[in-house]
Amino acid sequence: MLNKKVEKALNDQIKVEAESSQAYLAMASWAEINGFPGASLFLYAHSDEERMHMLKLVKFVNDRGGQAIIPSLAQPAKDYKSLHAIFTLLLAHETKVTSEINGVVEICLREKDYTTHNFMQWYVSEQIEEETLARNILDKLKLIGNDKGALYFFDRDISTMKAPAGAEGGK
Ligand code: FEO
Repeated sequence: MLNKKVEKALNDQIKVEAESSQAYLAMASWAEINGFPGASLFLYAHSDEERMHMLKLVKFVNDRGGQAIIPSLAQPAKDYKSLHAIFTLLLAHETKVTSEINGVVEICLREKDYTTHNFMQWYVSEQIEEETLARNILDKLKLIGNDKGALYFFDRDISTMKAPAGAEGGK
């Protein structure tokens, strides 16, 4: 059976991943109707990946004899000032997710649950990738500033950029 404190921590993490998926879906939708089709594709894919992160946790909790709780979610922001604002939020969000994941890892160690600790290592490496990617995108957007031409090319390029490992890496 899954240790109760670990189960609670994993269920909290299910909610964090679901919120990430929901937040990136809102951003994708905004980008789609505000002239950024490339960023929109990237964000839709990122939203799907976060859902896979959530599902991987749901399956793990249930497989280990716990019960995954499917959470209700708050409505994410509807409007954003710019792509720069979106990726600033995204990086801040991922940094927060990293500390939540570290929190789960800490609980696993405290409770001596080495199986879940091992399972969580996938999320630990995933966060390194996600933060690096968000930082690189944000650096580009900072350079571009208000240059509309450069923003057009950025949007074209981001559609071909690989979002962090999700559906495949998550299996
Ligand atoms: Fe699943 Fe972006 O954290």
